[in-house]
Amino acid sequence: MRNDVVRLGRLSGERSGDMMHFLSSMRADRYIAGADILVDIAHVLMLDRQKINDRATTRQLLPALLRLHDKGIPEEVFDDRFEDVHAGIESLLIESLGVEAGGRMHMGRSRNDEVVTCIRIRLREDLIAQMTALLKVREVLLTLSENHTESTMPGFTHLQHAQPTTLAHHLLAYEQAFSRDFDRLKEAYARVNQSPLGAAAFASTGYPIDREFTATLLGFDGLVTNTMDAVATRDFALETLADLTIMMANASRLCEELIFWSTSFVKFVIFDDAFCSTSSIMPQKKNPDTAEIMRAKSGSVFGAFSGALVTVKGLPMSYNRDLQELTPNIWRGMDDAGESLRLLADMLASASFDTKRMSEEAGKGFSTATELADSLVRSCGIPFRTAHNIVGRAVQKGDLSLATLEKAAGEVGGGISLAGKGLTQKDIDRMLEVRYSLELRKAPGGPAPEAVIAALGERRKQHHHDAELTRKKQAKLAKAKEHLIAEARRLVA
Ligand code: ARG
Repeated sequence: MRNDVVRLGRLSGERSGDMMHFLSSMRADRYIAGADILVDIAHVLMLDRQKINDRATTRQLLPALLRLHDKGIPEEVFDDRFEDVHAGIESLLIESLGVEAGGRMHMGRSRNDEVVTCIRIRLREDLIAQMTALLKVREVLLTLSENHTESTMPGFTHLQHAQPTTLAHHLLAYEQAFSRDFDRLKEAYARVNQSPLGAAAFASTGYPIDREFTATLLGFDGLVTNTMDAVATRDFALETLADLTIMMANASRLCEELIFWSTSFVKFVIFDDAFCSTSSIMPQKKNPDTAEIMRAKSGSVFGAFSGALVTVKGLPMSYNRDLQELTPNIWRGMDDAGESLRLLADMLASASFDTKRMSEEAGKGFSTATELADSLVRSCGIPFRTAHNIVGRAVQKGDLSLATLEKAAGEVGGGISLAGKGLTQKDIDRMLEVRYSLELRKAPGGPAPEAVIAALGERRKQHHHDAELTRKKQAKLAKAKEHLIAEARRLVA
């Protein structure tokens, strides 16, 4: 195939391989090549409908484009001598159809609106895949939670035993966070799925184009109206990357926790061997490498976001070639986040949780002292701060027996006698039970099994709703694509 047809007129001068490689976006363009064919087909259908091109031209262009859609794009199109895939495909068409037909595809558009249309098409598909991966992670967390509403464990603050909770309550905290990540991506999707096509270089075009028509053909939900904004903005990508960064921070926290839980100090979880590595020197080792890589990938995704953000920060209106350098960050961030989330679901589903070890630890470190203080308030009618003071002093003395509490009460002043208020050692023993503390904490969202079961019902409903919404979006895109290709085939038949 010949050289880049875009450069033929204005420019002369030989370019070195290094130069062409430096300027070409080909590597990243592999992500949008499929979308580019769809954009070409929609554009050609619009040119035909608006009588900007005659039917004879359309009947030459469409079969060539349908062939690329059906059989794939030949490797030579991806050569660095083309500035990008758009120039590669146009050069191929001119080569095979001649300039009389091939040279009429790029009427009334620019690579500036073309590339960002392609990016939005690919990104919305990746977003749906990402939302699906999040749904899977949430599904696994919900199923685990359903099985562990009674599995007591220590809850931590400052990584110190704090109060008893259950594994279900703990995992639901993550499910809720991932549900917000889902919401953010869903909202980003609404802003991604708008059509910039027809903006041309930035000033639209004098041809009587129909922007709404191409937007509908390509499954967009609306237009990026201002044509200068349409080619200049990448805020939809920044927003998506920011959302992915937050999502990966949540995933990283979960990984960190699982890694900690898998240590021989803690032993709350055992990863499936498939997700672990061993040592080349220490034959006994089983390391949680998958969780570690995932924790690190959160940094890579943040890197992609910050790379993209810094790229746009100094750019004047409208299109600047710098924008080409932003695009690979989108795919890098998406790939890392997508791979991570898909593996996270499997890693969680295949892990085994040691509920015996967890319950052994649930009551340690005076973890029911909060409930004891609360119970003293209820049974003896003393202020909470006084009860907190008494129990704190007793903990300092090393035990929570009636005798020690009574001594502590004496030190607090005010002449308080707990025994005098009818408190017995038996009462205290009950107040210190893990189960007792847990079952009282039944406020909405609390760890009491009854509250967790109610929360699970709500979370399941939300999951179902989100899954439906994702399916509908996916179906709408599939239908639009099917219709687009059918229309093209109908015109050439
Ligand atoms: N490869 C370019 C990009 O990724 C496409 C747009 C090129 N436009 C231009 N005026 N050179 O942004």
